[in-house]
Amino acid sequence: MLFIGIDIGTSSVKLLAIDEGGKIVNTISRDYPLSFPKPLWSEQSPEDWWKQSLEGLKELLAGLNPADVKSISFSGQMHGMVTLDEEDRVVRPAILWNDQRTEKECDFLNNTIGKKNISLWTGNVALTGFTAPKVLWLKENEPENFARAKKIMLPKDYLAYMLTGVFATDMSDASGTLYLDVKRRGWSQQMLDILGISTEQLPRLYESYEVIGCVKPELAEMLGLSHDVQVVIGGGDQAVAAVGGGVVGKGSCSVSLGTSGVVFTANEDFFVDEFNSLHSFCHADGKYHLMGVTLAAAASLKWWVEEINKSEDYDGLLKEAEEAKIDDSLFYLPYLMGERTPHNDPNCRGTFIGMNMTHERKHMTRAVLEGVAFSLRDTFEIMKDMGVNIDSISINGGGAKSRLWCQIIADVLKVQVNKLNTNEGPAYGAAILAAVGHGLFNTVEDACKSFLKISETIEPKEENAELYDKKYSSFSKIYPATKALFKQLI
Ligand code: XUL
Repeated sequence: MLFIGIDIGTSSVKLLAIDEGGKIVNTISRDYPLSFPKPLWSEQSPEDWWKQSLEGLKELLAGLNPADVKSISFSGQMHGMVTLDEEDRVVRPAILWNDQRTEKECDFLNNTIGKKNISLWTGNVALTGFTAPKVLWLKENEPENFARAKKIMLPKDYLAYMLTGVFATDMSDASGTLYLDVKRRGWSQQMLDILGISTEQLPRLYESYEVIGCVKPELAEMLGLSHDVQVVIGGGDQAVAAVGGGVVGKGSCSVSLGTSGVVFTANEDFFVDEFNSLHSFCHADGKYHLMGVTLAAAASLKWWVEEINKSEDYDGLLKEAEEAKIDDSLFYLPYLMGERTPHNDPNCRGTFIGMNMTHERKHMTRAVLEGVAFSLRDTFEIMKDMGVNIDSISINGGGAKSRLWCQIIADVLKVQVNKLNTNEGPAYGAAILAAVGHGLFNTVEDACKSFLKISETIEPKEENAELYDKKYSSFSKIYPATKALFKQLI
């Protein structure tokens, strides 16, 4: 038996096949472009996702026996708005999660409609990345496209629709639209009325591990798949990465060092924090989760290595950084794309602060890694204040390949950091959901227990943790001191 996970990321689609024992038998990845048509805008072509996923499926299956595939599922970049017209043609490029054009729409939702109402109806407040403000933006700025948008969906839902013809989404991804009533697990009529859209334009809601249908016969034929290959809807990349990292069931926690960085806890029940600083979403295991997002985590390192140092030598730069001592005078704020948690501020920006003549590149590389870790600690502190007790985390995402970064996370958060037998996060989580949907396991938790093992534990170092406590306290003073300045500069 084979189960396939497809992760539609921001820079590439990753496809992976596992067998019934959870062993990865093949994995491939295909890139597509990302466009920034104006400052603060971020868009992608849904047709590119589909084209590359289909090519990717062909490549993944070459060398395997396609007739062994039992089910396919997805993980997708969240919040992106995909619109189709009545002929199912894409109306305009998808507006992505990291697009910051909707400050005005967020002000309207948070201040005119009011955070209290929005939080009551959805469990969250408006952030520029979420889908609801994008719908308002479209209505206001491209009324002809808004009128043509007969279907509004999220990135992975477009792929599921192309593969099956079934218009579906799941609770975890739908939570990031800001028009799902997260607690009740249904669309919020109040929000739909404000946005001027109806449930007919929206996909049917499923749990992430549920089967929505089968691969279209002509596609199954082309790919050599059997005609009863099931498609399981899957979920938003953070919830699915958490599944891939074993973060299901009460109280478990993960840190993801992907393009964005995330602290994620799984909960049995629905919670919101006092100031709605955290995202309060449905989890892909059928329950709930809380998370905080820093927008440029691995994106900060990529920017520093590739754009500033004009290098591809990640290992070399990270090795250098390891030689740099913890320095309490040099700080990096990772707000290259504005920030979500906890500041919810599209205007703040990345900053190095505190440089002097003794600083070299190695100190600055280290400051980048630390700045991201401090930003994750901001979320961690809110979770601790809510009474969530965390002494170990599992870590995933591209950044987790760096041993130094994992140690810095352990020292800054003062927790044990566990690496698992797989670091494939979202694509692996999607394959797990495919296996659960097919009936190989009764629950997502059972599947995780069977497939995932801790391969390495990194303990926090006490002397570093003490230094970082002091450094974090200084870091926390920089944003409030620079906030007004950023607003004037942009
Ligand atoms: C989560 C989020 C990002 C994107 C892109 O809220 O915005 O993680 O899903 O990966």
